Amino acid sequence: ALPRDLEGRRVVISAGGTREPLDPVRYLGNRSSGRQGYALARVAAHRGAEVVLISAHTADLVEPAGVRVVHVGTAEQLRESVLAESQGADAVVMAAAVADFRPVDLAQHKIKKVDADPAPVKLTRNPDILAELVERRRDGELDTGLIVGFAAETGDPDTPVLDHGRRKLDRKGCDLLVVNTVGDGKAFEMEDNAGWLLSTDGTETPLPHGAKSLLSARLWDAVTRRLGERS
Ligand code: C5P
Repeated sequence: ALPRDLEGRRVVISAGGTREPLDPVRYLGNRSSGRQGYALARVAAHRGAEVVLISAHTADLVEPAGVRVVHVGTAEQLRESVLAESQGADAVVMAAAVADFRPVDLAQHKIKKVDADPAPVKLTRNPDILAELVERRRDGELDTGLIVGFAAETGDPDTPVLDHGRRKLDRKGCDLLVVNTVGDGKAFEMEDNAGWLLSTDGTETPLPHGAKSLLSARLWDAVTRRLGERS
C-alpha cells in the first residue's frame, strides 16, 4: 500500500504544453504529452494530498481521480492559475512545458494564403513562471513551501546532462530540480522517464529509468522529506 504521507498537504502541479495562438485556428505548441505531470498528480492524490493540476494541452489522458483540474491554453493563462493556486501551497511542481516565446500579434481572422511572400512571425518572450514563483517567495509576496522545477536536457559532449542541471538549479533558484534526458526518443511523449533529482541541500539522486509514476513516487519522497525537516 502507498504511504499516506501527503495527508494534509496541498500541492499544485502544472502539466502539458502551452499553445500560443497566431490566429483563431493556429498556434505555436510543443510535444509535451502531460504524462509526467498527470502521474505526479495521481500519485500525490493516492498519498493523501489535496491536488490542483493545472493542465495545458496534453495527449488524450484520463483526469486523475480526486484531483481538481484547471485547464489552460497559453503561458500567460498558466502563469495566472499557477500564481493564484500556489498561495499557501506546500509544494508547487512545474512539470509543464511552457513556451519560451509567443507571437507578438494575434490575428483577429485566419491568416490567408496570399500570392505575396509569407509575413515573418514576430515573437516575444514569455514570462518564466518558475523564476517568478521563486522571486515572489523571496520577496515575501508568496507563501509556498517547496518549489520544484523540471529541466529537459539533451546534454552534449562538453557538458553532461547533470552539469546542465546543476547550473539550472542555481540559476532558477528552486528547491528541487528534476533533470531529464531528452532527445533520442527519450522522455517527451514516452511512458518512461529517467534522470536526476537535484536538491539545494546538495543531494543528487539518480532517478533510474522507469515508469513516470515511479519517478513521481521518488519526487514525492524527496518533497515529504524536505517538508518534514521544516515542520
Ligand atoms: O529553462 P527551462 O525552460 O529549461 O526550465 C524548465 C522549467 O522552468 C520547467 O519547470 C518549466 O515548467 C519552467 N518554465 C516556466 N516558465 C517558462 C519556461 C519554463 O515556469 N516560461
